[in-house]
Amino acid sequence: MGRLEGKIALVTGAGSGLGRAISQEFARQGAHVFVSDRDEAHARETADAIAADKGAAAPLRADVTSSEDIAAMFKSVESASGKLHILVNNAGITQRSDFRHQADAEWQQILDVNLHGVIRCSREALALLRAAKGGSIINMSSIMGQRHIRQLSAYSTTKAAVCGLSRSMAVEYASFDIRVNSLCPGYVETALTEQGLRNPAVRKALLLQTPMGRFAAPRDVAKAALFLASDDSVYITGSDLTVDGGMSIAL
Ligand SMILES: NC(=O)c1ccc[n+]([C@@H]2O[C@H](COP(=O)([O-])OP(=O)(O)OC[C@H]3O[C@@H](n4cnc5c(N)ncnc54)[C@H](O)[C@@H]3O)[C@@H](O)[C@H]2O)c1
Repeated sequence: MGRLEGKIALVTGAGSGLGRAISQEFARQGAHVFVSDRDEAHARETADAIAADKGAAAPLRADVTSSEDIAAMFKSVESASGKLHILVNNAGITQRSDFRHQADAEWQQILDVNLHGVIRCSREALALLRAAKGGSIINMSSIMGQRHIRQLSAYSTTKAAVCGLSRSMAVEYASFDIRVNSLCPGYVETALTEQGLRNPAVRKALLLQTPMGRFAAPRDVAKAALFLASDDSVYITGSDLTVDGGMSIAL
């Protein structure tokens, strides 16, 4: 029997990379997964891959910057299931820019997706999580919320804020048996990092900084998400779970 048998999960940004791997892992463990993405075709591809693996999934199109999309997305979950046990706020974008050249509109865009998207989805999911008599919210942060490199100030700011937000939500929802934790991956090979990691010098330098000597595969992070989603982490809330091959603790 799977570790998420009978559970209803919703993953945002599930059309690619980490969101797709997390959705597949949850489905393998018996969850029914609503796979949501602003890119409908990619959400459907994830749902089809899960179905081909004999899992249960339903694609949903929603942009996390749109309150209307989010309301419609949770309405669909309510109509189909009436409750929700697991929410993974995974949708995210990145931008590289010198701090002094980064315009207000760029700040707004990244804050809107990476932080306000988490706020909107979590707020809207509450009623369904309470209908399930408790559950787990997993917010995708990054080691870049605690470690800093040049030209990534907006991204790092949003990821630090996500950890702070998760702790506040954890305290506020604990009495409803809703746990809220952050996941903080290091470098994972996905579309998000593809451009940077294509540069051999960058790859080499980053691997030298990673004690385990390799980047994460999306499934490595999905396994950590599974832990936070399952009852194995039943007494863990308000934590930041780092999944970085030791990168953030190495000199
Ligand atoms: N790849 C890494 O190394 C890494 C490391 C740490 C944290 N993260 C975080 O993990 C999450 C997933 O990243 P990934 O590497 O899988 O990236 P990705 O680009 O492969 O996937 C991101 C997905 O989010 C979707 N998305 C983007 N904006 C959206 C919006 N407004 N509404 C709905 N969906 C939207 C995209 O369509 C895409 O399918 C992000 O929050 C990212 O910051 C990634």
